[in-house]
This record gives sequence, structure tokens and C-alpha cells, in this order.
Amino acid sequence: MNQPVSAMTKSRFLDEEVRFSGRYSKNVVATLAETFRPYRTITILSLLVGMVARLCLLSTANISGYWADSLCQNAAYCHAPPHIFNGFGNNEFLWLLSIVIGIGFVCNIFFRVSISRTGAKAVSTLYDEVTMRVSRFPMEFFDKTPVGRIMSRFSSDYASIFRMAGGPLGEFLGLAFDLIATLILMSLASFYYVPIVLLACLAYFGLYKLHTPTMRSGRRQYAAARSPSVAHFAETVQGARLIKVYGKSVNFTDRFENQVGSLARERLSVAFSSQHYSFHMAIVTALLLLLTGLSGIWLVKTGRVSAGSLATAFTFILIVSTTIQQFFEWLANFEEALTGVERFDHYLRRPLEAGGALPLSAQYIPSVRRTKSAEAVTMPKSAELSVDHLWLRYGPELPWVLKDLSFTLRPTEKLAIVGRTGSGKSSLIQALYLMYVPDEGRISINGLSPDLSLAEADHREPLKAGKIRLDEFRKMIGLIPQDPTLFQGTLRDNLIADESGASDEKIWAMLRSIDLEHWVKSLGQGEGLDYPIEERGGNLSAGERQLICMARCFLSECPLIITDEATSAIDPASEELLVKALETHTRGRTLIIVAHRLSTVRSCDRVLWLDKG
Ligand SMILES: Nc1ncnc2c1ncn2[C@@H]1O[C@H](COP(=O)(O)OP(=O)(O)OP(=O)(O)O)[C@@H](O)[C@H]1O
Ligand SMILES: [Mg+2]
Repeated sequence: MNQPVSAMTKSRFLDEEVRFSGRYSKNVVATLAETFRPYRTITILSLLVGMVARLCLLSTANISGYWADSLCQNAAYCHAPPHIFNGFGNNEFLWLLSIVIGIGFVCNIFFRVSISRTGAKAVSTLYDEVTMRVSRFPMEFFDKTPVGRIMSRFSSDYASIFRMAGGPLGEFLGLAFDLIATLILMSLASFYYVPIVLLACLAYFGLYKLHTPTMRSGRRQYAAARSPSVAHFAETVQGARLIKVYGKSVNFTDRFENQVGSLARERLSVAFSSQHYSFHMAIVTALLLLLTGLSGIWLVKTGRVSAGSLATAFTFILIVSTTIQQFFEWLANFEEALTGVERFDHYLRRPLEAGGALPLSAQYIPSVRRTKSAEAVTMPKSAELSVDHLWLRYGPELPWVLKDLSFTLRPTEKLAIVGRTGSGKSSLIQALYLMYVPDEGRISINGLSPDLSLAEADHREPLKAGKIRLDEFRKMIGLIPQDPTLFQGTLRDNLIADESGASDEKIWAMLRSIDLEHWVKSLGQGEGLDYPIEERGGNLSAGERQLICMARCFLSECPLIITDEATSAIDPASEELLVKALETHTRGRTLIIVAHRLSTVRSCDRVLWLDKG
């Protein structure tokens, strides 16, 4: 249990975390552009208003310069202000400054609020789409990706994008506008200082380029190093009881400290390289100010610039050097968000499960096939299931679990599947759901098999003869699973599995028919269907969870019902109840019972014995 981190992360069953290197790919930029596409009008408007705001606020330096020149027009070092300021006295200059500051202030507020709101909304669409896609990934992805790694993408990586889009993006753009506005306004005040600004831009850009590779790779390593500790933490919390029972707390704590230690080292190295970068920036700023001061004295003495315009230019140089420095520091922060986009984009472009399709509302990467939102399928009453020469394994490097399996189940027939532990019973069920795509063979219900072709066709096109959409195919099969799974929510939410949403009357009628009404009414403080279910049904016993899963399955009225060791967690009385309920509610339906106990399979028409697939 005390293995080093590197040994733990390398596994035959787990994929290695993808580590990005080099420049950001074009996909990252394309995804970012797509994120803002639905909001382009408001984004462009906000940017324009933002530019006006910065021009107004910074032009106060020019106006003050002209005001100073107008006060000392007769001195040798003062030049006359431009003609539009003819007749301007102190009052006029004060009014002009107040108006310009007022406009700048209002525009700036609009820009900041609007860009933050738009950024937050745009980034949420990216989150929604990635969630939608991940839910359609093949099961192999979930088998081979530790949960902590997925959680880390949806928490820390998303947080870095959201943080940037929700606020600092405005800061970053504001600084870019400051730079442009400064260049324009400074050229108006005195052209002599433009080369200094350009020199400053070049020097800061050079520094940025010099430090970027180290900082970028540090940030990527840090992002990747988060996943193992999150994964380990999640696993520890889930297994807290067992860890206590076996007294393994020390081992788990050591492993966690190990992982957090390496995470802290990555974080420190990121912090060190950004401090290093800031230090170099500060040196360049100091040198530029020295250069401006010395050249300014010479320019005024030789009469090349007026005292007013020198003051304006000096203000600008002061502003501009800190602005450029901050701009490149923010650019580094912006890159952190880009690392998050890169990691999100990686999920955005992963292939969906075979036969899976996105709803038409899906926005990103239009080439991926999408489908209309699910229509109400007219569910057949019973199903003829045909399994034809089925071969299945969980990965190309793993052994066969099902080998050339064939059988047909006529409508209303009841089949028992028996076999030793690990013989492949649950795997057969996964295959029937097409959770794993069989290497060979065909599965069909009533002559219809799911369309697994990954053509980039739109699902609005009529399907080929004998084909059905994967989600519609799955809806025809109801399952009482071996591991009864419930979700956080009310009992009602857990009982209604499909979108049709059974009414309360229907739910109570079902509960009554399987003798669960009294038990449900006695739950909690008589909350009935509103009884809260905790994460993974933690506040119910395994047997109670199994009974709820049974009611859920019957309510979905599927023509083919499968029970996988459904009696494993319940007492003999409840088992009798389940067997009786099965008989009543599967009358006229096709039924598959996976069981160890012969008592459960007594009523079946046929028995399938599985032995190592
Ligand atoms: N996700 C998976 N990845 C790799 N191998 C798996 C996976 N799930 C099951 N297996 C392997 O497939 C084989 C069959 O497992 P399966 O769960 O189908 O057995 P079972 O007949 O349902 O057993 P039990 O009676 O214990 O429920 C086992 O050897 C198991 O190790
Ligand atoms: Mg099983």
C-alpha cells in the first residue's frame, strides 16, 4: 500500500494522464473562439466601450498638459495648445476634465461588468458541453480513468478558466487597451517618447518569451500533479470505514502526504518561476524610467518639447511601464486559464461511445454527429432477444470474457443465467446494453440492432432498415442490478428512471402491488416519496436499495427485464416478495434472471450455463 506515486499511477488497467507539451494547439484557440461565438455582439460592444473608457481616462494626462502649457504660454519652454483649446480658461479645463473623467468612469464600469458577465456565461457553455460529452464517453474511458482525474478537470481546471473569464479577463483586456490608448495619446503629446514605449514593449516581450517555456511547462505539470492526490483523497473518503476496520490509516495518510508533497513541490516551482519573471520585469521598468528622465531633461533644454508635453509624456511612461509589466504578468495568468482550456478541449475532442450522439443543441465541433432530443418511443410489450456469435473482452490486452455466445429468447420467455463467480454473467448484461462494444457478433431486440456506425450523419436522417438508435435500444431493457445504485435526491427521483415521469398515483400503485407501500410510508417522518436519499443511497440498507431498484425497473415498463443477482442482499422473506413481484410484473414480458440460488430460477423456461464465457 505504500508504493511510490509513480508506481501507483502506472497500471495495466488505467490510462496514463495526458501531459501536454510545447505550444498550445490551434484547437485551444478554436475552442475559445467557439465559447464566445454566441456572445460576439455583446463582446464586441463591450470591447469598444472599454477602449473608449481607457481613451477618456488616459486623455486627462493630455488635457492637463495643455492646461499647464496654457498657463505659461509666454515662457520659452511652453508651446501654445492646439486651436480647439483657444479661449479655454481654468474653468473650461476643469469642466472638460470632469466630463471626460465622468464618461470614462461610466464606460469603464459598463465594460468591466459586461465582459465579466459575458465571460462567465460563455465559459458555462463550455462546461455544459464537456459534461454532456463525458456522459457519452465509452465505458472503457471510465474504467481506465481514475475518478480523481475527471474530478480535477471539472474542478481545478474549470475553476482556472472561470476565474479568468469572470473577472481578470476584463483586467487583462483593460491593460491591452491602456497600451493602445497610451501609444495614441502619447504620439499626440510628443512623438519623441514613442520609441521609448516601443523599446519597452520589445524588452518586456523578450522577457516574456524567455520565461514562457519554463512557466508553461511548470503550470502543466502542476495541473497534471493535482489528479493523483484528488483521486487518492476520493478513494480514501469512500473507503473510510474499511480503512478504519483494517487499521490502515497510517498507510493512507503517508500516501496522501507523499502526493500532496509532490503537488506542493510543483506549486513552489511555478511560484518561483513567476517571481523570477516579475523580478526581471521590475529591473527593466527601473531602467526605462531612468532613460526617460535623462532624455526628458535634454529634450526640454534644447526646446524640442514643451514642459507640458514632457509632463504628459513622463506620466505616460510611468503608466506604460507598469502597464506593460502588468500586461505580461496577466498574460502569464491568462496562460494558466489556457492550460485549463487545453485540458477541457482534450475531453471535447475525445470520441463518443459507438452509436452515441449529441443533442442538436450541442454547439462545439459541428462535425460530430448529433440527434434530436429523445422522442417518446412506443415501447413494445415484449421483446425477442437474439444474441449471435458474441465475442467480448474489456480491452485488446485482456482475456476474452464471452466467447462465441449465441442464444435466442422468444417473447415472454424466461431465461435463467447461471455460472460460477467471474464466469461472465454481468459482462453479458453489459454487452446487452452495448456498454462495451463486442469485438464480434450481433445483438438485436425484435429484429432491431443499434446503429453503431460512427458516420458523421445527422440522426434526423431515417435510420437504415433493422437499425435503432442506441439510446432507444437501451430504453427497451430494464435492469435490477447486482450492485443496487441510488442517487442523491428524493425517493421519487430515484423511482422515476425515464423522462416520461410517472405520476405519484402510479408510483403508489406500483409500491402497493409489490408490498412496499407500508415500508415507504414508514420511512423517516412520514415523508413518503419525498424521503431524501443520500449519496449512493448511503442512508438505506443494501436490501432496501435493491427493493427500490426493483420498483424503479418495473415502473419503466420495459419489454425485456434483467435481474442480476437481485436477491444477493435480501433476506428470505424479501426474496419471496421479489420473486412474487417478478412473476406479476414480468407477465407477458421477456425476462432474464442471473442467479446463484436455484430457488430464484425455479420458474424459468430455460437455463443458460456460463463457464468462462
Ligand atoms: N471493467 C472490467 N475490466 C476488466 N475486466 C473485467 C471488468 N469487469 C469484469 N471483468 C472481468 O471479466 C470476468 C467476468 O466478470 P463478470 O463480472 O462478468 O462475472 P460474473 O459472472 O458476473 O461474476 P459474479 O457471479 O461474481 O457476479 C472476470 O474475470 C472479471 O475480472
Ligand atoms: Mg456479476
